[in-house]
Amino acid sequence: MKQNKVQRRTILRVMASSGALMALSPGFLLTGCDSGVSAAEPGVLGLDLDDYDVELSLRATPDSVRILAGEPSEVWRYKAELEKGPADTVAENTAGYLGPTIRLRRGQTVKIRIHNELPEDTTVHWHGLHVPSDVDGQPRLPIRPGETMTVGFKVRDRAGLFWYHSHAHGEDGGRVGFQSYSGLAGLLIVEDDEEADLRLPAGKNELLLVLQDRTFTSSNKLVYLSDGMGAMMDRMRGFLGNRMLLNGVPPTTHQVAARPYRIRVLNGSNSRIYKLAWSDGRPVTVIGADGGLLQTPEDKPYAVLAPAQRLDVWVNLADSRPGSRLKLISDSYDAGMMSGGMMGGMGMSGTSDLPAGSRFNLMTLKVSEAADTAETLPTQLAVKRKRIPVTDATRVRKFELSHVMMRGFAINGRQFKGATVADDEKVRLGDTEIWEFRNNTPMPHPMHIHGLQFNVIGRNSSSGTRGWGGLRQGIVDSGWHDTALVLPGEAVRLAMTFERFEGLYIYHCHNMEHEDTGMMRYFQVKS
Ligand code: C2O
Ligand code: CU
Ligand code: CU
Repeated sequence: MKQNKVQRRTILRVMASSGALMALSPGFLLTGCDSGVSAAEPGVLGLDLDDYDVELSLRATPDSVRILAGEPSEVWRYKAELEKGPADTVAENTAGYLGPTIRLRRGQTVKIRIHNELPEDTTVHWHGLHVPSDVDGQPRLPIRPGETMTVGFKVRDRAGLFWYHSHAHGEDGGRVGFQSYSGLAGLLIVEDDEEADLRLPAGKNELLLVLQDRTFTSSNKLVYLSDGMGAMMDRMRGFLGNRMLLNGVPPTTHQVAARPYRIRVLNGSNSRIYKLAWSDGRPVTVIGADGGLLQTPEDKPYAVLAPAQRLDVWVNLADSRPGSRLKLISDSYDAGMMSGGMMGGMGMSGTSDLPAGSRFNLMTLKVSEAADTAETLPTQLAVKRKRIPVTDATRVRKFELSHVMMRGFAINGRQFKGATVADDEKVRLGDTEIWEFRNNTPMPHPMHIHGLQFNVIGRNSSSGTRGWGGLRQGIVDSGWHDTALVLPGEAVRLAMTFERFEGLYIYHCHNMEHEDTGMMRYFQVKS
């Protein structure tokens, strides 16, 4: 039944774009829809209501923006217009290419009209959100050039930093790497009462950071993959740019006050893994991860942020003298054979000026004013959502990550093959399972599961981490996640429950070049 509905709605959408819809009366459309949902508007995927708390339109469109000194750069980006709802729902990012920051509250119903003004198919995926399958921006429901797709959903996630990005995948491979690289990404913040009650630093005392690495030509054109042999290397390793951008512009110095700050960071890079640390050696105080706040703050010597992951960090500058500086850096680490040697050192990759594991600055905080505040970090953060209950009887589903000669990486020997699922990729609605990802490759893989947040309940390595082990101490495993880094040789166990929504979802490596070359599969949730 569900599948039928999707197909019929997809057809309606296609008709709408071809103009054929104009000839049909609304009455025809109503009888054409399955009962059970009110058809306030034809073709709303997901939650179809007469009335929503928030309505916005989002365009994926070519644009030209000034990123570096000199000529502007051609990008693809999101632009949004708020049609209904609180005025702070949409905050345009004027500098750089990032899409607007979308701020939602738990419990709101939202309708988003997505227009594709690009010359190729696209989709918009709400990374980390628990939304119906048809709203998830999957490649099986592409938005063709010139077309519009409308999605509706209720915000069910607890407060946290999420993001949205393209998830297009064509006949000859994925376009996620290229489209996100071109600028199709933005932040999505969910707020709720539990978080608001903690009164964490907000407004100008909260910094949102999107970390991305990029390569430009001398005339400021974005360069994605190099040609020939280099391109193959880039895909195997994942794209690495030769300079850092923060929020779509080169790193800058922030003037701050001598007080506590909340810093929320998204790794929006195609493949780079960051080892976040403070320049004065103080510990990194982590208060949240992908799926919102941890139960209690955690001090780490450094914090590892793999592609698509988010970290919520607290830093107290109350004791800093005016004029002093503190830098957020990505510290050096051993990136196995990618630090040099085979993939980095032979001059085969045109974009390794900033190889994996390099040390560089991300942001400078300059304390420019005194502040009079006694704000402290609560010792208890978010405790309402209980960890997923796991027993000896909980089913363990195993996934082996392996390398396929000349074709990239695979999951249980399989690569992406459209909306097909194997028998061992079908799960039951309401079930709790443990998914174990075992990495039999020399590369780390940030494994991401759509539509839910999981707990990391185990991480061990039997065969050594092939050089990457230096990152282990900084991996944040407590709290809620939608993306977990699996180092070479590691087996990582994730506990999750398939709640509420039936249908197809995706799991994949969020190294975008791995994903695009097939390290991605659908799974099916069925009652
Ligand atoms: Cu960031 Cu399949 O997603
Ligand atoms: Cu996702
Ligand atoms: Cu991977």
